[in-house]
Amino acid sequence: MAKSYSPIVLDSIEPEYFPAVNIYVKQGHNFTLYRSEEMELTESGLDRLRQSGVEFVHVDNSSADEVLLYVENNLKFICSNEKISRTSKNMVLSHIMMNNVAEVFKNPTQPETCIKCRNFLKQHEFLIDDRRDLMELLAKFSHYDVYLFKHSAQVAILAMYLHRKLFEAAGDELVAIGVGAMLHDIGMLDVSYDIHEKSGALTPKEYLRVRHHPRIGHDMLRQIGLTDPISLSMVLDHHERYNGTGYPRQLYEDEIPRNTQIGTICDTYCALTMDRPYRPASTPEEAVRIMQGEKKLYHPDFFDAFAGIIMG
Ligand SMILES: [Fe+2]
Ligand SMILES: [Fe+2]
Repeated sequence: MAKSYSPIVLDSIEPEYFPAVNIYVKQGHNFTLYRSEEMELTESGLDRLRQSGVEFVHVDNSSADEVLLYVENNLKFICSNEKISRTSKNMVLSHIMMNNVAEVFKNPTQPETCIKCRNFLKQHEFLIDDRRDLMELLAKFSHYDVYLFKHSAQVAILAMYLHRKLFEAAGDELVAIGVGAMLHDIGMLDVSYDIHEKSGALTPKEYLRVRHHPRIGHDMLRQIGLTDPISLSMVLDHHERYNGTGYPRQLYEDEIPRNTQIGTICDTYCALTMDRPYRPASTPEEAVRIMQGEKKLYHPDFFDAFAGIIMG
């Protein structure tokens, strides 16, 4: 198996407790061994890395699970540690969120994976007060690899932020929105990797396959016990469009629930702002401009509110 590397937020490392694994620093496209597993890890060493501008270190795939478990087990401590910046805390939470999504993708028939997503959102809140925090966090996702996991986490973070700002959503509603957004593309499990990562145009047959993913995702989640109508609609209806041209049900205007209308705006924006095999990432401003050009696809008031927040 080819070696791959996972980024770890530097500030999440407590030298005394961090597992004895090889740690790498990324320089350009190369990964240089910073500390081998038998060497002691020291606070002063980590400080030197911080001073040279390093925010992430990397571990290789042989130790990624062990390190992830360490981060998960220390999440409470990391989030309450005043020495760790808000941005670092948000990145650690994003990392765990991506992993929760990955676990559902790996075990889509196990109800526990879905429950874990919900419990994570119940227990941990992202520390995002304003646009600057939000944009800074979304920009840091470029450190991570797997498109669908980081896309899902980005959509969840943005959807929860917009619902808090626009409708003061909180509690169980916000958790349901987060779960729906985290899992909105779970039906892509049914779409082969080749189709998903294809750089050219899809054949009609491939396109048909992709169009099934909201329904497949919805049915999959129902089968493992997801019942919240907010989450389920965010999965089933995230490709519906305000002017009735979406799929799978061709819902029109306010037939699409409010949470889902916000979710679709977030979904489109987060997809546009990430590199894809068939096009490079748009900047936030470009993405809003592209969406402005097809504004009839979105609820006009929600789109304006969203654009106002993104453009600052
Ligand atoms: Fe989708
Ligand atoms: Fe999506």
